[in-house]
Amino acid sequence: MEKTLPYSEKVMDHFMNPRNMGEIENADGVGTVGNPVCGDVMRLYLKIKDSVIVDAKFKTFGCGAAIASSSILTEMLKGKPIEEAKKISNEAVVEALDGLPAVKRHCSVLAEEALEAALKDYYQKQQEKASSGTASQSTG
Ligand code: FES
Repeated sequence: MEKTLPYSEKVMDHFMNPRNMGEIENADGVGTVGNPVCGDVMRLYLKIKDSVIVDAKFKTFGCGAAIASSSILTEMLKGKPIEEAKKISNEAVVEALDGLPAVKRHCSVLAEEALEAALKDYYQKQQEKASSGTASQSTG
């Protein structure tokens, strides 16, 4: 008797062969988020050039659905202008994975939150760079 898995082929594929796993040295934005209920943690690294995400990698200590969500998220992000990337919601991640079981939807929320956190970190770093630039210029 064969038992059907509650996961789509795409979820299984990204879980078994995660894309872009690892970290980016000197990333322009890093976002780490966790779910206090299940204890899973997701970290997303972004390399951004001229307001376009040129590279994205992740490290996820979590369930299969969280790994699949972060894997597909990095694929969705590569080559996207920041403004476009900001619109990626957990719903879009679920859709790209051909669905997730209801009890696993929160895993895709982690991906949305990691993206938000990484972009926030990017903007913060940009601001720091800009203010240190003006500080060195304003000598009087
Ligand atoms: Fe925690 Fe999936 S069970 S992120």
